[in-house]
Amino acid sequence: MRIDVAFTPGQPDDAAVAVVIDVLRATTTIAYALTQGYRRVLACGELEQARELARRIDGGAVLAGERKCLKPEGFDLGNSPREFEGAPLGDTLVITTTNGTRAIVTAAAHAQTVAIGSLANLTSCAAQVARVARERQGDVLVQCAGVRGAFTMDDAYAAGRYVQELSVWLAEWERSDAAEAAEALARSFESSGDGLAASQSARNLRAADLYDDVRFCARESALEIVPIVADVDAGVALITA
Ligand code: MLT
Repeated sequence: MRIDVAFTPGQPDDAAVAVVIDVLRATTTIAYALTQGYRRVLACGELEQARELARRIDGGAVLAGERKCLKPEGFDLGNSPREFEGAPLGDTLVITTTNGTRAIVTAAAHAQTVAIGSLANLTSCAAQVARVARERQGDVLVQCAGVRGAFTMDDAYAAGRYVQELSVWLAEWERSDAAEAAEALARSFESSGDGLAASQSARNLRAADLYDDVRFCARESALEIVPIVADVDAGVALITA
């Protein structure tokens, strides 16, 4: 059994359990949305698909997401976790983002169980993923969303933090070279704020005047929630906690 990290969403080896990370910001936002009280989150890759899905849901759905960091036209909310405070605007959140929501859908094809990971739920999510891996005596995949198929420092940093946490519970599991590399990378930063700040994603958020999101997403283990993909159908992942 081993802990592996995929830095980009290509064709990873199958695993018993995967944790998908798009720390800036999609997976952080999903964790905050479910904590806020949304009953379910439907994640998909395309804007039109999200709009159509929201229209078809009985009683309506709240539409959230981003393109180039910003709220798409006609959407209720953007992709900032800071927008998910106070009372939820409905029961169902439909979300589409450039990389994170697609990575979630893809990961579900490669793992029996998929958890949604961020620094915000680091401790609880890693513990639950480890529990599943131990029950199944299976491999763990830490799947980074990356940006348009490429490596990103923010997700790699968070993946390294997950490798550290998972290793507390799964001491006998081997670590792949990628897992060792992520862990070494995480160790090279003094804080999660520094790890995220070193990324292009953080620079993009700064340019969009959203740097407060980077500080917010760097807060470790502020939440206990562990979002799990309950189903995937026609490119839409149903996520509940
Ligand atoms: C993504 O899915 O690409 C990100 O969450 C982008 C963002 O920061 O909004």
